Amino acid sequence: MKARLNTIVWLGAITVLILFSSFDTPGEATKQNQMKISVADNTLKKQALKILETKCNVCHRKQNPLMVFKEKNMSKRAKKIYKMVFKERKMPKGNDIRLTNEEYITLEKWLFTQEIF
Ligand code: HEC
Repeated sequence: MKARLNTIVWLGAITVLILFSSFDTPGEATKQNQMKISVADNTLKKQALKILETKCNVCHRKQNPLMVFKEKNMSKRAKKIYKMVFKERKMPKGNDIRLTNEEYITLEKWLFTQEIF
Protein backbone atom coordinates (compact mmCIF):
# COMPACT_ATOMS: atom_id res chain seq x y z
CA MET A 1 0.00 0.00 0.00
CA LYS A 2 2.78 2.41 0.96
CA ALA A 3 4.77 1.46 -2.14
CA ARG A 4 1.81 2.28 -4.39
CA LEU A 5 1.38 5.67 -2.70
CA ASN A 6 5.05 6.39 -3.30
CA THR A 7 4.67 5.59 -6.99
CA ILE A 8 1.70 7.94 -7.28
CA VAL A 9 3.60 10.77 -5.60
CA TRP A 10 6.60 10.28 -7.90
CA LEU A 11 4.46 10.11 -11.02
CA GLY A 12 2.76 13.31 -9.92
CA ALA A 13 6.09 15.05 -9.38
CA ILE A 14 7.36 13.96 -12.79
CA THR A 15 4.15 15.17 -14.49
CA VAL A 16 4.49 18.56 -12.84
CA LEU A 17 8.14 18.78 -13.93
CA ILE A 18 7.28 17.92 -17.53
CA LEU A 19 4.45 20.45 -17.56
CA PHE A 20 6.65 23.25 -16.28
CA SER A 21 9.52 22.52 -18.63
CA SER A 22 7.18 22.81 -21.63
CA PHE A 23 6.28 26.41 -20.76
CA ASP A 24 9.26 27.91 -22.49
CA THR A 25 10.11 31.57 -22.12
CA PRO A 26 10.82 33.37 -25.42
CA GLY A 27 14.34 32.26 -26.20
CA GLU A 28 17.15 33.77 -28.20
CA ALA A 29 15.80 32.24 -31.42
CA THR A 30 12.46 34.04 -31.07
CA LYS A 31 14.17 37.35 -30.40
CA GLN A 32 16.37 36.89 -33.45
CA ASN A 33 13.34 36.11 -35.60
CA GLN A 34 11.60 39.26 -34.44
CA MET A 35 14.70 41.24 -35.33
CA LYS A 36 14.84 39.65 -38.76
CA ILE A 37 11.21 40.63 -39.39
CA SER A 38 11.79 44.27 -38.50
CA VAL A 39 14.93 44.40 -40.66
CA ALA A 40 13.02 42.86 -43.56
CA ASP A 41 10.20 45.39 -43.07
CA ASN A 42 12.69 48.17 -43.15
CA THR A 43 14.29 47.12 -46.43
CA LEU A 44 10.83 46.56 -47.92
CA LYS A 45 9.89 50.07 -46.87
CA LYS A 46 13.09 51.42 -48.44
CA GLN A 47 12.33 49.56 -51.67
CA ALA A 48 8.77 50.93 -51.66
CA LEU A 49 10.07 54.44 -51.02
CA LYS A 50 12.40 54.13 -53.98
CA ILE A 51 9.42 53.29 -56.21
CA LEU A 52 7.41 56.19 -54.79
CA GLU A 53 10.32 58.52 -55.41
CA THR A 54 11.13 57.43 -58.94
CA LYS A 55 7.62 56.70 -60.23
CA CYS A 56 5.42 59.08 -58.25
CA ASN A 57 7.36 61.99 -56.79
CA VAL A 58 8.90 62.79 -60.16
CA CYS A 59 5.48 64.02 -61.19
CA HIS A 60 3.89 64.95 -57.86
CA ARG A 61 6.71 67.37 -57.12
CA LYS A 62 5.37 69.51 -59.98
CA GLN A 63 1.73 68.53 -60.32
CA ASN A 64 0.68 67.58 -56.79
CA PRO A 65 3.27 69.00 -54.36
CA LEU A 66 1.11 68.25 -51.32
CA MET A 67 1.39 64.52 -52.07
CA VAL A 68 5.18 64.09 -52.27
CA PHE A 69 6.06 60.81 -50.58
CA LYS A 70 8.76 60.64 -47.92
CA GLU A 71 9.89 57.98 -45.48
CA LYS A 72 8.09 59.87 -42.73
CA ASN A 73 4.71 60.27 -44.42
CA MET A 74 4.40 57.18 -46.61
CA SER A 75 2.84 54.99 -43.89
CA LYS A 76 0.21 57.60 -43.16
CA ARG A 77 -0.59 57.67 -46.87
CA ALA A 78 -0.55 53.91 -47.40
CA LYS A 79 -4.32 53.66 -47.64
CA LYS A 80 -4.50 56.38 -50.30
CA ILE A 81 -1.64 54.79 -52.23
CA TYR A 82 -3.41 51.44 -52.16
CA LYS A 83 -6.64 53.07 -53.34
CA MET A 84 -5.07 55.01 -56.22
CA VAL A 85 -2.61 52.38 -57.45
CA PHE A 86 -4.39 49.07 -56.84
CA LYS A 87 -8.11 49.64 -56.26
CA GLU A 88 -8.87 52.40 -58.74
CA ARG A 89 -5.68 52.12 -60.81
CA LYS A 90 -5.60 55.90 -61.35
CA MET A 91 -1.91 56.22 -60.47
CA PRO A 92 0.65 56.58 -61.87
CA LYS A 93 -1.35 59.11 -63.86
CA GLY A 94 -0.98 59.18 -67.61
CA ASN A 95 0.76 56.76 -69.90
CA ASP A 96 4.36 57.87 -69.64
CA ILE A 97 5.25 56.42 -66.26
CA ARG A 98 4.55 52.76 -65.62
CA LEU A 99 5.37 50.44 -62.77
CA THR A 100 7.03 47.15 -63.66
CA ASN A 101 5.42 43.95 -62.37
CA GLU A 102 8.20 43.69 -59.84
CA GLU A 103 7.53 47.22 -58.60
CA TYR A 104 3.81 46.45 -58.23
CA ILE A 105 4.65 43.38 -56.21
CA THR A 106 7.13 45.22 -53.97
CA LEU A 107 4.74 48.10 -53.38
CA GLU A 108 1.87 45.73 -52.60
CA LYS A 109 4.04 43.68 -50.25
CA TRP A 110 4.89 46.81 -48.32
CA LEU A 111 1.24 47.88 -48.26
CA PHE A 112 0.37 44.51 -46.72
CA THR A 113 2.71 45.32 -43.81
CA GLN A 114 0.67 48.46 -43.15
CA GLU A 115 -2.46 48.38 -41.05
CA ILE A 116 -4.88 49.46 -43.74
CA PHE A 117 -6.93 46.33 -44.35
C1 HEC B 1 2.32 62.09 -64.32
C2 HEC B 1 1.96 62.57 -63.02
C3 HEC B 1 1.71 61.64 -61.87
C4 HEC B 1 2.33 60.45 -61.56
C5 HEC B 1 3.42 59.75 -62.30
C6 HEC B 1 1.71 59.98 -60.33
N1 HEC B 1 0.74 60.85 -59.92
FE1 HEC B 1 -0.41 60.67 -58.27
N2 HEC B 1 -1.34 62.40 -58.71
C7 HEC B 1 -1.08 63.21 -59.81
C8 HEC B 1 -1.98 64.34 -59.80
C9 HEC B 1 -2.01 65.43 -60.84
C10 HEC B 1 -2.81 64.20 -58.66
C11 HEC B 1 -3.94 65.14 -58.22
C12 HEC B 1 -5.28 64.49 -58.42
C13 HEC B 1 -5.54 64.10 -59.87
O1 HEC B 1 -5.30 64.87 -60.78
O2 HEC B 1 -5.97 62.97 -60.08
C14 HEC B 1 -2.37 62.97 -58.01
C15 HEC B 1 -2.92 62.49 -56.84
C16 HEC B 1 -2.49 61.39 -56.17
C17 HEC B 1 -2.99 60.94 -54.89
C18 HEC B 1 -4.03 61.67 -54.05
C19 HEC B 1 -5.38 61.14 -54.28
C20 HEC B 1 -6.34 61.68 -53.23
O3 HEC B 1 -7.38 61.04 -53.04
O4 HEC B 1 -6.05 62.71 -52.61
C21 HEC B 1 -2.33 59.81 -54.55
C22 HEC B 1 -2.49 58.98 -53.29
C23 HEC B 1 -1.41 59.52 -55.62
N3 HEC B 1 -1.54 60.50 -56.58
C24 HEC B 1 -0.58 58.44 -55.64
C25 HEC B 1 0.36 58.24 -56.63
C26 HEC B 1 1.30 57.14 -56.61
C27 HEC B 1 1.41 56.11 -55.49
C28 HEC B 1 2.02 57.23 -57.74
C29 HEC B 1 3.14 56.33 -58.18
C30 HEC B 1 2.93 54.94 -58.20
C31 HEC B 1 1.55 58.39 -58.48
N4 HEC B 1 0.55 58.96 -57.78
C32 HEC B 1 2.08 58.79 -59.69
C33 HEC B 1 -0.13 62.98 -60.76
C34 HEC B 1 0.71 61.89 -60.83
